[in-house]
Amino acid sequence: MNVKMIAKTKSIEEELIKESIFIIGHVLSVDGRIIKIKLNKNKNHSHILYEGKTVKNVSVGSYIKVVKGFVSIIGKVEGEFTSEEKYYNKEYNKEEAKINRILQVSLFGHFEGTHFKQGIKEMPLIDNECYLLNRDEFNSLHHFYKNGEKTITIGNLTEEPSQKIKIGVNNLFASHIGIFGNTGSGKSNTLAKIYTELFKVFSNNNDFKTKSDFVVVDFNGEYIGDEMITKDKVVYELSTGKKVSKKKYPISKDSIHKTEILSVLLEATEKTQKPFLDRVIRNDFLDDNATFNARVITSIEDTCTSVIDKKDRNLREGLIIELFRDLINLVTDEKKDAITNLKKEVENNLHYHSKNEEYYWDNTNSTNFNNTSPIYTTHLKTLVENLVFKSDEFSKLKLKIVFNYFHEIIKGYSNQEHIGPLIGRMFRKFDMLEKLIDINENTESKNLSIICLRDVNIEMKKIIPLIIAKQLYENKKESDKKSLHIVIDEAHNILSTMSQRESETWKDYRLETFEEIIKEGRKFGVFLTIASQRPYDISATIISQLHNYFIHRLINDNDINAVEKAVAYLDKLSFQSIPILSVGSCFVAGLASDIPVKVDIDLLEMEKRPNSGTVNLEGAWNSELTQNNKDIQPIIN
Ligand SMILES: Nc1ncnc2c1ncn2[C@@H]1O[C@H](COP(=O)(O)OP(=O)(O)OP(=O)(O)O)[C@@H](O)[C@H]1O
Ligand SMILES: [Mg+2]
Repeated sequence: MNVKMIAKTKSIEEELIKESIFIIGHVLSVDGRIIKIKLNKNKNHSHILYEGKTVKNVSVGSYIKVVKGFVSIIGKVEGEFTSEEKYYNKEYNKEEAKINRILQVSLFGHFEGTHFKQGIKEMPLIDNECYLLNRDEFNSLHHFYKNGEKTITIGNLTEEPSQKIKIGVNNLFASHIGIFGNTGSGKSNTLAKIYTELFKVFSNNNDFKTKSDFVVVDFNGEYIGDEMITKDKVVYELSTGKKVSKKKYPISKDSIHKTEILSVLLEATEKTQKPFLDRVIRNDFLDDNATFNARVITSIEDTCTSVIDKKDRNLREGLIIELFRDLINLVTDEKKDAITNLKKEVENNLHYHSKNEEYYWDNTNSTNFNNTSPIYTTHLKTLVENLVFKSDEFSKLKLKIVFNYFHEIIKGYSNQEHIGPLIGRMFRKFDMLEKLIDINENTESKNLSIICLRDVNIEMKKIIPLIIAKQLYENKKESDKKSLHIVIDEAHNILSTMSQRESETWKDYRLETFEEIIKEGRKFGVFLTIASQRPYDISATIISQLHNYFIHRLINDNDINAVEKAVAYLDKLSFQSIPILSVGSCFVAGLASDIPVKVDIDLLEMEKRPNSGTVNLEGAWNSELTQNNKDIQPIIN
């Protein structure tokens, strides 16, 4: 035998040894995609030895390969049980040998050459041999990207920690992503991890910076740290409280001038107040800057003279007082005193004589009715003409609402009782909104924005993300940028279908907006990433349209069911183990991974970790204790 032949026989021998070691049993039955495998009796150990190394033997959750001629079919072990041998010879065997070990396996893919492909082309036959996967096959099964594609590493396979899990950037980020899990299960860390990795991979890529935008809605101030995700970002730390917003979010005039948005903001009623707001928006009488102040003054004159001249019993002088009261907040600071005095003048002097059905002007003698000369021209005109009104967009909008209201009341188009409450709410709501946004067409040039809503009150926490998402979505539809990624941690805050405190219209509009982004966004390159501890609360339309899921530990049955209904990618066995996942460990399922895998997500370094760590009460209290102990003087004997 020459050297070549010896080598060849040796390699065949090695192959045979390998096969004999990796073979685990034979197919016993085939029922749809579920097959049963009878294990060889000598394979009842947890590990087997191969080339001096231990290889993990089959167990529930592991993968096996069924060989049928040239085809290798891959399945996952879903259950294991035993059966007893019917015919067995006592003389030759030990008692335990009559027990057969049977595996239930669900088939899901096959190998083409060395590449794993999802789906099955051929079913196995009874008695086909079944094998453990070798290292290469195992690697190939967990190879979730095409060669040459950019990837991010998210962690290690839980069951085989030496296996790093890398995911193709395109499959993950050109998709809607859902991250679910109970509080403290590691969602925020997972969310931060995938985006931190993404920004790391593309840190020197200019196209990445100019062609894609990322916006994180951060309800708890977890992502505002300097090192979070990337240094190169804009942070909008908004506040409705005593703290002033460090940087207000720029919103274009068009985004606010929307009936839907204004109705939601001002909690307008569907039948009367919403149509009123619609009329306000369509009215452009204050839009021209050159004539703005003059037009406001004419409108005041019109309102006053209409009330006075109309002498309508129902339109009493109170209406004029109401007008000046509403306008106090809308004049420039220097004119505040002037308009306050004007209001007082009217309160003191303008009276109505119901018998004569006339107004008169006097503060000394209530029987002096002669003074019916044009009241406005004589007593108010010059004072009013002196006023200067604020001309920023917010003030303009408020003025428009105020004058439309008075106009419609006087003309009898609208009922004061219907629209009045809206005007009452308007100033308070706009005050809050003004603390958070700037009406401004320019947006920052950085491609990552963090919108921190930690110090924003509940009312605005709900509406701000809606206004921003709507604006971003509309702008993206028209721009030539490649993609927009809206990331919402604690998404149940705005995507909940459960909240009973809010009106139906508002709930519908809010959900419709996000459902539209989920349904249509992909076409325009708009992708949503949501993280939530209450998937059950979130609209089913939204959950079921996500493409990639990271599922951490969930305990509540409703939550598990909600995920189970929506996630077609996950097998039964995986679902059953959702309540027993450990912190940081999650199932990754969807477009980005060919098969659902259980991954231990890498914990980010301290300064890159979302600022949400569980409070260490004992530590906090102990520091106090040690402090107190220090004050106690040691007793010296
Ligand atoms: N991958 C991980 N590996 C190890 N520990 C982790 C991992 N992820 C999170 N943790 C730990 O769990 C804690 C909570 O994590 P995280 O804030 O991400 O949870 P969460 O699911 O977002 O909770 P919440 O719903 O309250 O926001 C972290 O402070 C960290 O110590
Ligand atoms: Mg969190």
